[in-house]
Amino acid sequence: MTTAARRTVTLTVNGAARSAPAEDRTLLSDFLRHTLRLTGTHVGCEEGVCGACTVLLDGEPVRSCLLLAVQAQGRTVETVEGLADDGRLNALQRTLKETHGLQCGFCTPGVLMSLTAAEREGLDEEETAGQVLAGHRCRCTGYAGIRAAVAARHRAPGGPRQAPRGGGAEAAG
Ligand code: FES
Ligand code: FES
Repeated sequence: MTTAARRTVTLTVNGAARSAPAEDRTLLSDFLRHTLRLTGTHVGCEEGVCGACTVLLDGEPVRSCLLLAVQAQGRTVETVEGLADDGRLNALQRTLKETHGLQCGFCTPGVLMSLTAAEREGLDEEETAGQVLAGHRCRCTGYAGIRAAVAARHRAPGGPRQAPRGGGAEAAG
């Protein structure tokens, strides 16, 4: 019987240095949820389709169910727990809530991470809506509330603000 290789993965998660053992085959989504106890990242399809597991890897949205934890070695990961602003919902999170862009909330962490990336990239309203709606499966909202949140952010004075990178509270979801 062979034993799976394990190694220590060291990375930055939501602005904090983290280091923990992982098997070579451990998915990044499982590493975040089960090892680091950051359960805000949800797992649905586990095959790259639903978008629920989306996190930012060095600022880029990725499906964490399609990556291995060891591939995040030395890199920066942002999860939904890092969006909170001093323990309170940030402006994007508040907007999604106000526009009823979530119901059960299963897709919401991934949607928020994609919206955060789109705002940082400076995508316009249509580009943001297209990118986010194409990349996430939501069984509840019919996407109307998510679209409304994108519109509200782009119509707010000054447009979407730069979302802070990492460093938020690590509240489990
Ligand atoms: S759980 Fe990763 S894309 Fe669905
Ligand atoms: S809010 Fe339920 S899946 Fe999107």
